[in-house]
Amino acid sequence: MLAEDFSALIRSRRSVRSFRPDPIPDDILDAVLDDARHAPSWSNTRPYCLAVASGERADRLRQAYAAEFDAALPLYHRRPGAMLKAALTGSLPDGDFKTWGRYSDDLRPASVAVGRGLYQHLGIARGDRAGRDAWNRRNCEFFGAPTAVWVFVHDTLLPFSAHDAGLMLQTLMLAAQARGLGSCALGVLATWRGPIDVEFAVPEHYKLVTGLALGYPSDDPVNDFRAEHPPIRLAASR
Ligand SMILES: Cc1cc2nc3c(=O)[nH]c(=O)nc-3n(C[C@H](O)[C@H](O)[C@H](O)COP(=O)(O)O)c2cc1C
Repeated sequence: MLAEDFSALIRSRRSVRSFRPDPIPDDILDAVLDDARHAPSWSNTRPYCLAVASGERADRLRQAYAAEFDAALPLYHRRPGAMLKAALTGSLPDGDFKTWGRYSDDLRPASVAVGRGLYQHLGIARGDRAGRDAWNRRNCEFFGAPTAVWVFVHDTLLPFSAHDAGLMLQTLMLAAQARGLGSCALGVLATWRGPIDVEFAVPEHYKLVTGLALGYPSDDPVNDFRAEHPPIRLAASR
């Protein structure tokens, strides 16, 4: 393969946030997963596990995650006492890792910039809480993707298992891209663990780090959004 082709494939991938409902043919999905298994990993342990849902199962999970999102709205809105109430009633999000919280000062600007850029692109104003809620709910519905994937990492090999899952996931996303599929990693799905345990027997020790939407991109203008990709941060030499 030419280096230019490889660069072009990498640069053509971007997060897709609107999908056509068309299912992914089984042989295409199998080929993507088969490519992903060639990713390198710590001592070849491949310390991760995937749950892949399509069709009715994906729809059940879509509904379940949207319901979790609706229930967590008071927390999203930071309503006074909401956190305490959720803690007392045992209804705090049950993810294996905390997905919310303030970014450190050096990381925050990039996160703010991409969020602001995306909302601007969508035409959702800063104070439009209903618009933002609707968008975030769509996020929990996998943006309409016909297939969703949940990524679990082995808790005895952290942080390396999470690192290896990332290597595998990018391989999977590029393998999907090469076959005309679009993808979007969905960290928001890691906020809740309960719905996935209803549908899958996830082996002991595996913790949920992220989800992923997979399917054919729609023509919706949201898919024209482009995040910035500044140069890799390099440590200065002494
Ligand atoms: C682990 C992970 C979790 C992510 N979670 C979300 C998410 O919940 N919702 C979303 O819209 N984008 C999510 N993204 C996409 C990032 O915002 C996106 O990769 C980044 O802005 C760069 O844009 P690009 O993927 O289009 O190149 C996630 C990306 C990663 C790697």
